[in-house]
Amino acid sequence: MSLIIPNHVGIIMDGNGRWATKRNLNRSQGHLAGSETLIDIAEYCFNKGVKVLSVFAFSTENFKRSKDEVDFLMDLSIKLLKGKLKKIINNNIKVIFSGRKDRLPEQLLKTMTKVEKETVNNDKAILNICFNYGGRSEIVDVIKNIVNKQVDINSITEDSIKKYLYNDLPDLDLVIRTSGEYRISNFMLYQMAYAELYFIDTYWPDFKKEDFDQVIIEYNQRDRRFGNVK
Ligand code: IPE
Ligand code: IPE
Ligand code: MG
Repeated sequence: MSLIIPNHVGIIMDGNGRWATKRNLNRSQGHLAGSETLIDIAEYCFNKGVKVLSVFAFSTENFKRSKDEVDFLMDLSIKLLKGKLKKIINNNIKVIFSGRKDRLPEQLLKTMTKVEKETVNNDKAILNICFNYGGRSEIVDVIKNIVNKQVDINSITEDSIKKYLYNDLPDLDLVIRTSGEYRISNFMLYQMAYAELYFIDTYWPDFKKEDFDQVIIEYNQRDRRFGNVK
């Protein structure tokens, strides 16, 4: 029997810092290793047939970290978008970003816009990079947008709200969090309402294709009822 591949997968890529500390490295080296994992796993997911992959790369709350760490993550993201991520992008993947644009360095914003433009017509699958993203900020921004546009109150539905989110994407089917933390940390709250959740102890830089395969096997054993009875 062939396995069902979830249409929209979310990954909370956590544990870079602890991965590095365990090896007596600095946190930056953990982020660097984590970025390699992202490239490998994203490519693997798309080859398996995932249509939308949303990755949590930097949360609105991550600005609480030291300036050094934040600066490193901004620079690493620019390098990634200009460099190794091209391997994925060139494979007909559309790249989009979710999150607030404020507080991001000019150079990163420019690179993001360029990548979005370059991939706008790609249609194999979508890589949604959640950067300076918070699920609550997104809901706040949705409400502001709706009020600002003086949207007719009777036209507001669960579905119509999706059009005001940072991106109009299908609901998440599966969310994976690495590093042994059993929480959501403000990731895609509206989109996650009926997602299957999968928590794994492995730190993100150690997450392998085989781990993803294992997640898919477990996903196929879940009984998604959406409030109904079987
Ligand atoms: C995830 O790894 C990457 C980001 C949040 C940017 P962490 O940096 O949170 O790693 P830990 O949780 O401290 O190990
Ligand atoms: C969540 O990880 C955000 C990202 C993976 C980008 P955090 O490390 O920031 O989450 P908490 O602080 O452990 O909840
Ligand atoms: Mg963390």
